[in-house]
Amino acid sequence: MKIPVIIDCDPGTDDTIALIMALASEALDVKAITTVAGNQTAEKTAVNGLKIVSFLDKQLPVARGAEKPIMRPLVTAGHVHGETGMAHVVLPEAKNDYLETKAWDLFYKMSVESNEKIHLITLGPLSNVAIALMKYPHLKDGISQITMMGGAVGYGNDTQAAEYNIYADPEAAKMVFESGIPITMVGLDCTHQAWITQNEIESMGKPSKENGVWLAQELMRHIHEFASRFGFEGAIMHDPSAIAAVIDPTLIQTEDYFVTVETKGEHTLGKTVVDTLRVTGHEPNAQVALDMDRERFVELVKGLIQQYEI
Ligand code: RIB
Ligand code: CA
Repeated sequence: MKIPVIIDCDPGTDDTIALIMALASEALDVKAITTVAGNQTAEKTAVNGLKIVSFLDKQLPVARGAEKPIMRPLVTAGHVHGETGMAHVVLPEAKNDYLETKAWDLFYKMSVESNEKIHLITLGPLSNVAIALMKYPHLKDGISQITMMGGAVGYGNDTQAAEYNIYADPEAAKMVFESGIPITMVGLDCTHQAWITQNEIESMGKPSKENGVWLAQELMRHIHEFASRFGFEGAIMHDPSAIAAVIDPTLIQTEDYFVTVETKGEHTLGKTVVDTLRVTGHEPNAQVALDMDRERFVELVKGLIQQYEI
């Protein structure tokens, strides 16, 4: 039975690899892609979303979302993903256009209205989900689970305390953790174990034309170069880890913890505050991913990407 999913993302180099994987997976029924301001502006992430779906020759709706965080100015990550959000890669113009429907309205239409519970996978700031929660008090009735790439137990990558997706819109993230929707938090504790080496990247194929394999390898090479500056053993696959965790939950090891988000701290703004010692007495509200089976993860990534060679 395929899992009905909507993928909310801010493409984004690793978002793109995550989409390549998800759109090749037999385990997922990807109903729609929604985009949000994050790695780049809302306009750029939306155009990238359209171009990726078009380039991979997939037929599915793309809906735009928030232009900025719900209560703060937008902080993009062009230093990581480049001016376009797609590093050095230039994709052809999209053959299709985005829906008139906004991302948050699409979440509601495709879940509560259609009576099909949707597994929401978020790969960027949580602005769209927060707006949906504010606009549709019954949204949670239509969402089976949220699997998010975001947060960390003990450290950050955008600041010393906060991971980018949470830091970019901490108020939105706090609202999502308080929503009561089952959450799997795939944070840095897990994604920093999901690296892909240069040899593994090259072993994925030698495409004779610009296809999904070529796109994934080009972006992995870009990420590998960036990650190696920080001493990582390979290209860190943040967003692909979240997709992999939905396709095969046995890849990750999780613990149930109570998680909230710091929205006021001078040095800790955007930190996911994880009650690992259970001192708050609060019931756990998230499965927090702490470990990734890297070898099996790489095999999964390779198998999905090679679908585009066939
Ligand atoms: O911290 C990593 C996350 O921030 C990933 O989703 C990456 O795409 C950026 O959005
Ligand atoms: Ca992302």
